[in-house]
Amino acid sequence: MTQPIRLAINGASGRMGRALLALVREDKRFELVNALVPATSAHNGTPVFAELPASLRYAHDWNAVTANVVIDFSGPDGLIAALDYCIAHKAALVTGTTGIDASLQTRLDQAAQRIPLLHAANFSLGVAVLKRLLRQAAAALPDWDLEIIEAHHGRKEDAPSGTALALGNAAAETRGTSLAKDAVYVREGRPGARRSGSIGFAVVRGGDVVGEHTALLLGQGERVELSHRATDRSIFARGALEAAAWLAARKPGSYDIDDMLQARVAG
Ligand SMILES: NC(=O)c1ccc[n+]([C@@H]2O[C@H](COP(=O)([O-])OP(=O)(O)OC[C@H]3O[C@@H](n4cnc5c(N)ncnc54)[C@H](OP(=O)(O)O)[C@@H]3O)[C@@H](O)[C@H]2O)c1
Repeated sequence: MTQPIRLAINGASGRMGRALLALVREDKRFELVNALVPATSAHNGTPVFAELPASLRYAHDWNAVTANVVIDFSGPDGLIAALDYCIAHKAALVTGTTGIDASLQTRLDQAAQRIPLLHAANFSLGVAVLKRLLRQAAAALPDWDLEIIEAHHGRKEDAPSGTALALGNAAAETRGTSLAKDAVYVREGRPGARRSGSIGFAVVRGGDVVGEHTALLLGQGERVELSHRATDRSIFARGALEAAAWLAARKPGSYDIDDMLQARVAG
């Protein structure tokens, strides 16, 4: 039997970290060897699984880390610490941290020359497939009108969602244009007739909706609807674990979820 992957989770006490911990303890592909939090964290030194006081403890010291794959959902500062460890120990890094500025992006790009690195702003495998299908549909139906509708819970602060924008970007690229040129985010009053080639966005907010995205391709007398509905936030943790298992066997390089899907499609 192959050895389990020695896994560290960075940002382990957060929402995503805890979702990962819950999954990883049932997953024989992994051995959880470190659960990292900042030195200032109230969780530092406490048991990761409260009902098992002798089990692994949350810790902040990267010198004690022994993982060959790190999953990071912490924040830009935490990501930098994870990156330094992975470069020094040639470990693979899966990160879902958002809010990455240009200088951190450059560090990630440089690190990917030395370690396998996968960064994704959305770890849902279903959304990754939706993006693929949308690219195909946008290319096959170049003259059809494209509208993207998204729905999220009422606490979400940004709009349209990053995922809706990523879908729009993928379709725009396929059609040789960009959102900067062709997106329409607001229609109010008398916006006039729909401009051919534009990509419209519509946003719904309310209740406890985890995340729903639909791309509508509207032709004459027919339409195609491509939809994804998330019903549970654990999909992001599930996707990150799939990515970690896949990335552990990769050569150094910069990967995304679509590379993983491509490898599956190719068998
Ligand atoms: N790509 C995706 O699919 C996806 C999905 C959801 C979230 N995210 C992103 O993932 C990140 C975390 O999200 P979340 O919702 O889990 O946030 P959260 O609940 O606020 O958790 C953040 C975690 O990171 C820890 N942390 C903060 N600074 C750190 C540092 N310097 N070193 C190590 N750990 C540090 C926090 O520790 P303490 O709180 O214990 O101090 C906490 O455990 C955000 O950037 C978020 O946007 C991505």
